[in-house]
Amino acid sequence: MNISNRVKQIKKSAIHEMTRLSKQYDDVAFLSWAKPTSGTPEHIGNAAVSAINKGLTGGYSQNEGLPELRNEIAKKLKRDNNIEANISQIIVTVGAIEGLAAAVMAAIDPGDEVILPTPTYSTHIRQVQIASGKPVLVPLIEEKNFALDIQSIKEAITPRTKAIMYCSPNNPTGTVFPEEKLRQIAEISLENNLMVITDEAYEYFIYDDNKHFSIASIPEMKKNVISCFTFTKTYAMTGWRIGYLHADEEVIPQIKKAHIPFAICAPVVSQYAALAALKGSQNCVEEFGNHYLNMRNLMCERLDKLKSVFEYQKPGGSYLMFPKILLKEGKDSISFCKKLLKEARVSTTPGIAFGPTGESHLRLSFCVSEEEINKAFDRMEKYFQK
Ligand SMILES: Cc1ncc(COP(=O)(O)O)c(C=O)c1O
Repeated sequence: MNISNRVKQIKKSAIHEMTRLSKQYDDVAFLSWAKPTSGTPEHIGNAAVSAINKGLTGGYSQNEGLPELRNEIAKKLKRDNNIEANISQIIVTVGAIEGLAAAVMAAIDPGDEVILPTPTYSTHIRQVQIASGKPVLVPLIEEKNFALDIQSIKEAITPRTKAIMYCSPNNPTGTVFPEEKLRQIAEISLENNLMVITDEAYEYFIYDDNKHFSIASIPEMKKNVISCFTFTKTYAMTGWRIGYLHADEEVIPQIKKAHIPFAICAPVVSQYAALAALKGSQNCVEEFGNHYLNMRNLMCERLDKLKSVFEYQKPGGSYLMFPKILLKEGKDSISFCKKLLKEARVSTTPGIAFGPTGESHLRLSFCVSEEEINKAFDRMEKYFQK
């Protein structure tokens, strides 16, 4: 079988493996899913049905997306991200994922290096590999709540470095990178002519005194940032596969060349749904955020009772957290997770899935109900007391 080395080097996802294993057992308490568990708000679905009934969804749209949708996105970027956007700087994509993949394809040549602060969303690492690039993993500083290590990032730069790619709030740690640190990243990128590729999927789920900062709001960064966003998390629209990216109008035609062979355009029915999401009431976003905040607090309280097993940093955003396993058997996070699933019927995600610095950790998701968290922790308390 002739399969490219580019694809062969990509390891099987530990996340999907755990999902597969979880299905073998009945009555599992799930803390392993990073997707919103609430349904898509009704008015968004209704708008899609209405677009279908009007016969608007059977063809392709413009490759970069419907102009009226891009217009609403530009307004949102100005209002919520402080980005001076216009519609020629936007491509509507198949979720954030396709936007990120197209961004990486446009930014790097084979052999180029991309710096990724880790632990990070493993798909980013794979996107660099699939573009025949080299992921350069720079550890976050766990003791400082998984802060960006600016000095180590500077030291990781070589003549082959082309980009820095990060998500804030971060999957899996829930860290919100503060403006001050992102301004330092901006300086590094300008000094070394690097592209910064951002994944801002969790931008609306921010807690305590944290603030979401979009690096593209720095005017000097205009030509050095590709920012990727999604409707998946904000409006619980995982299955609609709809997101968008923002970049300078001179960069957009280049990214479009990568977007077209993979997607032609984002699903048109989903573009109409996204339009309704942006134009309609934003109460749903606030409701999701309040629920996640309550669930974060509950999960932290429950983790406090398992101090001999886990040590954690409180996440400032997203609906994910990344406790360290203090037990000796936690050094191998995959076997630890498998055992927890088999013996306690609790499904979690092994930390190694997020890069080598993720080993000895678990990723826990709190985008679930109060009952699910209590069920999982009641079981873990009993299991670890044995
Ligand atoms: C950081 C991050 N980016 C992107 C995605 C996926 O986004 P989309 O559904 O918009 O492709 C996820 C999903 O878990 C994520 O955690």
